[in-house]
Amino acid sequence: MRTEMKFHEDTQKLHVETMQEHAYFIPFGSEEDAFQNREKSSSFQLLNGEWDFKYYKSIFDVKEKPEDISFEDVIPVPANWQLHGYDKPQYTNVRYPIPFDPPYVPNDNPVGIYRKGYSYTADGKDRILGFEGVDSCFYVWVNNQFVGYSQISHATSEFHITDFLLEGDNTILVAVLKWCDGTYLEDQDKWRMSGIFRDVYMLSRPQNRINDYHVITHLGEDYKHAKIEVTIDATTECEITLYDADGGELASQRTNKLAEFNVENPMLWSAESPDLYRIVLRTKEESIGEKIGIREIKVIDGVICINGVGVKFKGVNRHDSYCDSGYVATREKLVADILLMKKLNVNAVRTSHYPNAPIFYQLCDEMGLYVIDEADVETHGCVDVYNTFEWKDGYNGIALLASDEGFEKAIIDRIHHLVSRDINRPCVVMWSLGNESGYGVNFKKAAEMVKKLDTERLVHYESMHKLDDTDSSIFDMVSMMYPSPESLKKGFFKNKEEKRPLVLCEYCHAMGNGPGDLEEYWKLIYEEKRFAGAFVWEWCDHGIYQGKAENGKSKYFYGGDFGEIVHDSNFCMDGLLYPDRTPHTGALEMKNVYRPVRVTLVNRDKGIFKFTNTYDFINAGTKLTCTYQVTEQGRIIKEGNVILDIEAHEEKEIEIQELANIYGESLYVRFIFAEDGFERGFDQILLERMDRHYIPKGKKGHFEICESSEQYQISDNKFKYTISKHTSMVTSIEKEGKQLLDRPTEINMFRAPTDNDGIKDKWYKIHLNENKVKLYSITCKEKEDCVVIEASISLGYAISEPVARVKVCYEIYQEGEIHFSTKAQILEGLKFLPRYGIRFFVSKQYQQVKYYGYGPNESYIDKHRACYKACFEADVNELFEDYIKPQENGSHYGCDYVTISDGAHQISIYCDKEFSFNLSRYTQEELSSKAHNWELQKCESTVLCVDYMMSGVGSNSCGPELLEQYQLKEKQINHNFWVTF
Ligand code: GAL
Ligand code: MG
Repeated sequence: MRTEMKFHEDTQKLHVETMQEHAYFIPFGSEEDAFQNREKSSSFQLLNGEWDFKYYKSIFDVKEKPEDISFEDVIPVPANWQLHGYDKPQYTNVRYPIPFDPPYVPNDNPVGIYRKGYSYTADGKDRILGFEGVDSCFYVWVNNQFVGYSQISHATSEFHITDFLLEGDNTILVAVLKWCDGTYLEDQDKWRMSGIFRDVYMLSRPQNRINDYHVITHLGEDYKHAKIEVTIDATTECEITLYDADGGELASQRTNKLAEFNVENPMLWSAESPDLYRIVLRTKEESIGEKIGIREIKVIDGVICINGVGVKFKGVNRHDSYCDSGYVATREKLVADILLMKKLNVNAVRTSHYPNAPIFYQLCDEMGLYVIDEADVETHGCVDVYNTFEWKDGYNGIALLASDEGFEKAIIDRIHHLVSRDINRPCVVMWSLGNESGYGVNFKKAAEMVKKLDTERLVHYESMHKLDDTDSSIFDMVSMMYPSPESLKKGFFKNKEEKRPLVLCEYCHAMGNGPGDLEEYWKLIYEEKRFAGAFVWEWCDHGIYQGKAENGKSKYFYGGDFGEIVHDSNFCMDGLLYPDRTPHTGALEMKNVYRPVRVTLVNRDKGIFKFTNTYDFINAGTKLTCTYQVTEQGRIIKEGNVILDIEAHEEKEIEIQELANIYGESLYVRFIFAEDGFERGFDQILLERMDRHYIPKGKKGHFEICESSEQYQISDNKFKYTISKHTSMVTSIEKEGKQLLDRPTEINMFRAPTDNDGIKDKWYKIHLNENKVKLYSITCKEKEDCVVIEASISLGYAISEPVARVKVCYEIYQEGEIHFSTKAQILEGLKFLPRYGIRFFVSKQYQQVKYYGYGPNESYIDKHRACYKACFEADVNELFEDYIKPQENGSHYGCDYVTISDGAHQISIYCDKEFSFNLSRYTQEELSSKAHNWELQKCESTVLCVDYMMSGVGSNSCGPELLEQYQLKEKQINHNFWVTF
């Protein structure tokens, strides 16, 4: 066998004895079944299931004769062998997992040999053996005779094997190699895994048959007349019948070349109304059912239009990957992903960075999603091959293979496979030539080829880094990843030469706690006609499920956890969803930024609001109901409905009598949009602020002050406060003999860094996490109605000047009321602080919380679009957002007050200025020191942080730096609040 395995290090031998690639279809024996799941077809047999398996660590161990292989093991097909006990998964982003030495791959190239029996009875029909996805390449034998070879992990390869079959039992052998020359073109940021990971099937087909067909729909200028063209490649005559969605026959033609149908007043396909017609292609022995969407995609005046209407892609990037099954996607899993996308107001998906299983596209056709279909091409690792390990000015090593003649054939082949297979799918609105491979003549030729194969769709490619001056004007749009909205305003939208539309194929890197910048982008997307939309990176976290930890939490592994030497740690945990597909708060944030209707206030006294329908095609009223709630200080005081009758893209001012002339303190109205009872989004609008000023309730009374060299002790009837004379921190508060503080208070300027805190090294450099207090002076005076303690301190650790110089002042009133005041002067040169506030450690019995602020999800200054201001109640555990890589989470922004309770006692915070708080059973020290959530230990106390401000979260793990307005940059901070016990 081994001597026959001689193509996987040869970039000119990509496929050996495979059939010509063609549009995906499955023939059926009878027309009635033609639209059933393919498993129902008598011409189709799935060969999934248990296969005999033999794993070799190195190709050099593979036996020459198949008879000499002892198959002691079995493995499921489809599967990744790394998830079944052979080899281990490896996560790497950019870096190649093997030495860069094309077309060669390491000697120790692991091989999995798969064996399956196939029973054959000659019936005059051909047998076609199909593989829908094998990583990285494979050789096939039938009855020990070599059949062929193929590669491209995410492509279909078919072999015509009739001549190899014997009557009765036959043996199919497949040798799958972990690496091949194709590996250099499959350097996507993903878990590197191998094996037969998609379906394997056998087709039985008559010799005279349809080999391929291509459906094109043309729309007349007025979009009222459609022409459907079906071009056929067949060796027999064929009858093609067009049906409407309900199966009503519209027309029929016989041909073996081209059929044309005219449809008047056609239903047009879009993601919002995915209406499909049907055609059946019938030959003597076979029927093929095809659902077709009549739609046009075109750039008109720099705007990407579908059916003549400028659309906005509310997109996400999705890897075809799961925490339990690796690369294996079932229909159920795909349906669940698409349904969840639709629930989150997503209308477009980029199949980053390779074609998905064919069924995915059929589901997108039916359920309504626009697809950027991407070829299985990425050469990102080329950036590092000169061993510089850094981006140098002008060095665009990423494009190393983009103009390399040796890879021309392979790059074009991959893109050809993409287009050939998915050409009939209406959901596909653009072809993407791949990801992060730089630009050069190979891609130019590929783009030209695509434009010949398909005149109807747009061609997308993002990676424009070049080593030469190959012209790149062939692309229908400009695509970018992670530019800041500001840079687009100043750059792309100012550039008069550039007339093409813009898409961001990646933006808002959703890693960990984030993204915080969605709305900024969407403001610009709605402002700029040519801005066609953007795709969040990415859909899901890619932890690999490894069972339950002792504490019952699911264990997810990320890069390095399998002992990989080259890996990129938790950079694969960068999705909107947890590995089990539960949404992060970032997903909810996206949902509301992608909401279908937006509202602004026009006239407060008259109650006039402007409603904007962001649907591209439908009247908002046909889908949505709108209710509103008016709240005063968080309590609902009025509710009502608004009738929506707003055409797509239209704005309408609506006067709501009930909302005219209502006044109150901290008055908000929230409009909620629902589709069949399911909330699609909301807008909350501030109607009237409140001037807050807390007045202490405590009566005048006597304080006893006890001073020692260590501390001040201040007592009244019920309370005893202790303040350290070494630190000025409150070390104890006793209420009727019961201690309320588990530890002294602290001035806190740190948070457990989020994945997006690109600045965190700077914070660590000045030891923001372990500052020590230096006290210069402290005094205690009794005033008329309170005791005032004033101190002057600084906080620092090493290297630099103190990070903060602070004037501390406590005013202690009777009956458990303290006014906390700190005036901090922050070190110049420190870009921004994560937070500034006071940290309290109280008894862990304090579990219940009530707050008036942004909830119910965690909320930050730049991430609260899924939240609204109201009164919320929760348990401390509910506030915790359990990121797999622990980090700052669960804060609440924009609060007027918070009260925590142990059931019997309450501690409340009031502030005249809106503040943030965080209540947690985990300390920031614990969160920042653990690699995985299941390793976290709860604190013996409940930790309450009362923050003057918490910096935003942004998306700087890959995206731009946190926007300035969300950074805590102030150098003089006055933090004042009241605590009542
Ligand atoms: C992009 C790339 C993605 C992913 C992302 C970072 O550059 O296209 O595949 O690596 O960065 O998570
Ligand atoms: Mg990459």
